[in-house]
Amino acid sequence: MRVLVIHGPNLNLLGERQPEIYGRQTLAELDEFIATNAREIGVTVECVQHNSEGAIVDAIHDARTRFDAIVINPGAYSHYSYAIADAIASVHVPVVEAHLSNIAAREAHRRTSVTAAACVGSVSGFGARSYVLALRAVAQIPEK
Ligand code: DQA
Repeated sequence: MRVLVIHGPNLNLLGERQPEIYGRQTLAELDEFIATNAREIGVTVECVQHNSEGAIVDAIHDARTRFDAIVINPGAYSHYSYAIADAIASVHVPVVEAHLSNIAAREAHRRTSVTAAACVGSVSGFGARSYVLALRAVAQIPEK
């Protein structure tokens, strides 16, 4: 199974960005952690990061023929991007949302995820392990 992992805006600054919330791990270290765990789970991963909404929409579209599933952390777009939600709803590959922080326990504007509503499910609050749990979840979704 091939899984595309999409990191959204500002996640390129992991390690220096609000470490009290997102930890000290850089994006490169996070991707390494995801790749190591993916091997254990038995899936192949490719990780990409995009700051712009359109690039994320394009990545979701492109993934529909190249990957079997998507794990996505849309960052702040989670809370208001109907374009990304529509892109997720437009493809047949299963999509699982992952968040480092527990968005349900943060500011009011972060408690809603319009993109998660278009996904098969979501994982939030377990730091880097949120991505691994999301990978485990997609690995168990029966193929249509
Ligand atoms: C985040 C949570 C979002 O609210 C925030 O805008 C992010 C990161 C997370 O992984 O916890 O950029 O998606």
